[in-house]
Amino acid sequence: MNEEMRKYFTPPDLKAAKKRGKQDVSVLEFDQIPDEMKEVGKGKKYLIKTFGCQMNVHDSETIAGILELMGYESTECEEESDLILINTCAIRENAEDKVFGEIGRLKPLKVEKPELVLGMCGCMSQEESVVNRILQKHQHVDLIFGTHNIHRLPHLLMEALMSKEMVVEVWSKEGDIVENLPKIRQDGLKAWVNIMYGCDKFCTYCIVPYTRGKERSRRPEDVLAEVRELARKGYQEVTLLGQNVNAYGKDLTGRDYRFGDLMDDMRKIGIPRVRFTTSHPRDFDDHLIEVLAKRGNLVEHIHLPVQSGNNDILKIMARKYTRERFLELVRKIKRAIPDVVLTTDIIVGYPGETEEQFEDTLSLMKEVEFDSAFTFIYSPREGTPAAKMKDNVPQEVKKERLHRLNRLQDEISRKKNESLQGKVVEVLVEGESKKDPDVLSGRTRTNKLVNFYGPKHLIGRFAHVRITEPRTWTLKGEWMEESSAHQVGS
Ligand code: 5AD
Ligand code: SF4
Repeated sequence: MNEEMRKYFTPPDLKAAKKRGKQDVSVLEFDQIPDEMKEVGKGKKYLIKTFGCQMNVHDSETIAGILELMGYESTECEEESDLILINTCAIRENAEDKVFGEIGRLKPLKVEKPELVLGMCGCMSQEESVVNRILQKHQHVDLIFGTHNIHRLPHLLMEALMSKEMVVEVWSKEGDIVENLPKIRQDGLKAWVNIMYGCDKFCTYCIVPYTRGKERSRRPEDVLAEVRELARKGYQEVTLLGQNVNAYGKDLTGRDYRFGDLMDDMRKIGIPRVRFTTSHPRDFDDHLIEVLAKRGNLVEHIHLPVQSGNNDILKIMARKYTRERFLELVRKIKRAIPDVVLTTDIIVGYPGETEEQFEDTLSLMKEVEFDSAFTFIYSPREGTPAAKMKDNVPQEVKKERLHRLNRLQDEISRKKNESLQGKVVEVLVEGESKKDPDVLSGRTRTNKLVNFYGPKHLIGRFAHVRITEPRTWTLKGEWMEESSAHQVGS
């Protein structure tokens, strides 16, 4: 690494990230784009390739917002792009493999078109080993920036355009909050809204607390103003985003305002549906349940990752709850919202997981009856505590466990969906189905996908649909009538 490059590069340091400081989080305002940068992208095209979770999808909307302020226009075509950014995910090894595959695949294009700027951002940029590998083996990459550096993109891009060296800016910090970021939302109906960033839970398998910094909440007035503005623009649904939304407000100094309070204030905004993701069972409090039970625009769907049904595994995962406490929470939620749809995340094949311990996960799945589950084989992440744990479970056994888990979940999902046979559900119609343009498709309040024949003018509106053919993952139905404007707060 030469001096020029060193200037921009603070190597990500996982050990330092774990020592969370007590200093206050700064709230910065995104600066106007300097005049000399407003024309940089004129006549040029950009393409962002996004991997990973909704947080990344939404970050890409911010990046698009910044690029368009610089004059760039979006394209879907790699060959006509002047700038390609890969927004990366670090959660499991296969996510990283895909990104390295992409970087390799784009090399001939870069060689053919040297003026193309090829950049990488997102969670993988925060990993020291990844940055080193790119510096050593993928010199055709022009720009790397981290999850805390998105607001610096205009300056970094200028640098990359002017310099022949790879520009790397990755701050290994706990993170600030940047308000006023521009956004180009991909969808005119449903919008993502960040309510908090980072994670302080340090589950032993997870890389996110290192790649995304410490837990920090946006000010309630900023979040509420953004949602009000989206309602005014005609959005029908918002999803509030955070790695652990139930910790919202814990870090706000001088006020006692938590996630339950935020949701209560959301109810008073004229937007038909409000969702949130992701919850941590440990911080899910009674006040939140009470508020969610008031319904209105707060939908009856909670994504509640359990990860395992065995107490010893939960303990070494550092989840800080037991099977019994999780089941008690589920009982409380179901008591308050009897028709609630619960979904979850589960990891199988944790280091040392025995057959009996795995069976506890199966039995918890049966007991709770989640409507659906994202299931994963444990993937060791460098720098996390679990990566150092002794793992004597063969990969074949892990695969077989995943298969059994999925079979059980499919059975439960089908049974849950079959219970909707003949029922009328409210669907927010998103568009034509991917498979058949004559079919419309949309989602229920509980986030289930419904396909039905209906007139195209329903797109973007609410429709009442009777379920006629429930399947494991989707529902088929028939259109009943046009739903009148949704009553909020009723
Ligand atoms: N290996 C496998 N799955 C993981 N997840 C997070 N880290 C890992 C890992 N190292 C899963 C968890 C989490 C979801 C987003 O991804 O289930 O809830
Ligand atoms: Fe999202 Fe986590 Fe993947 Fe980062 S590592 S993109 S925060 S899922």
